This record gives sequence, C-alpha cells and structure tokens, in this order.
Amino acid sequence: MRDELAIHIASDADIVKARQEGRALAERIGFSGSDLTIIATAISEVARNIIKFAKRGEIVLQRVDRNPRDGILVIARDDGPGIPDIPLAMQDGFTTGHGLGLGLPGCRRLMDEFAIESSVGEGTTVSMKKWVSS
Ligand SMILES: Nc1ncnc2c1ncn2[C@@H]1O[C@H](COP(=O)(O)OP(=O)(O)OP(=O)(O)O)[C@@H](O)[C@H]1O
Ligand SMILES: [Mg+2]
Repeated sequence: MRDELAIHIASDADIVKARQEGRALAERIGFSGSDLTIIATAISEVARNIIKFAKRGEIVLQRVDRNPRDGILVIARDDGPGIPDIPLAMQDGFTTGHGLGLGLPGCRRLMDEFAIESSVGEGTTVSMKKWVSS
C-alpha cells in the first residue's frame, strides 16, 4: 500500500493535524507504543518550527518500504529565512526564539535518521526517518 500525504502548515491547528495524521500513518505502518509518541512528538517539533520561524510551510508524511521492516519518512519544508549555522542550531539549548532550543536536537535523538538542508533567504528542509523495530 502506498501511503503519502502532505499537510499545509500555517496555524496551530495544522500542527495538531500533522501530529494526528502522522500518528495514524505510523500505526498503519506497524509502529506501536512509545514509537507512536516519539513520531508524533518529532512531527510537532518541526511543524512548530515552521510556524515560529517561517510562518508557513508543509509536512510530508510517507511510508518507506524497506525489507525486512517498513518505516516512516517525515519531511518538513518551508520557504522561510533559513538557518545560517546548522551545527549551532543543532546544539542543545541554542535558540533564536524563546524556546528551550531542544526541538531539533531532540528530533535527531528520537528518530533513526535525521538531515537538515537550509539556505539563508531560501528556506529549510528537515528530513527524518524511523524504522519499525523488530
Ligand atoms: N524552519 C526553520 N526556519 C528557520 N530557522 C529555524 C527553523 N527551525 C529551527 N530554526 C532555528 O534553529 C534554532 C533551533 O531550533 P530548535 O527547534 O532546536 O529550538 P527552538 O525552536 O528555538 O526551541 P524549542 O524547539 O525547544 O521550543 C531555532 O531557534 C531557529 O533559530
Ligand atoms: Mg523548535
């Protein structure tokens, strides 16, 4: 079964929607228990960053088929201001807002794969994957 959906992110309600859709897709893929919470939390964090720093963007959620276990791909992208120093932004406690600066490093720890591409003035794309554990 091919599962892919894109959620436009422009309000707090959209963050809730992305979180719920992500959790539902993760359940269909075969995740359970604390993995569902981890995936929903990571989606919330990147969606919240879109609202805070770029105002709008989108979250793409996709099933990834990989033998012997499937996984979920979460992509958060925006055309916002971009991140000038990615290693700095990935440090625990670094924030240019009023947050704790734990969102991105937390996502990296929670998910199995994590990548950021960003260009100042062009935008940011965060890609994360998690595999169903055996
Ligand atoms: N989509 C984005 N566009 C531009 N800058 C971003 C984006 N996401 C993160 N950043 C930058 O990276 C920094 C670190 O992000 P992170 O999510 O870790 O912390 P935060 O959002 O500031 O705080 P917290 O997530 O703990 O509430 C942000 O303060 C901001 O400077
Ligand atoms: Mg954040």
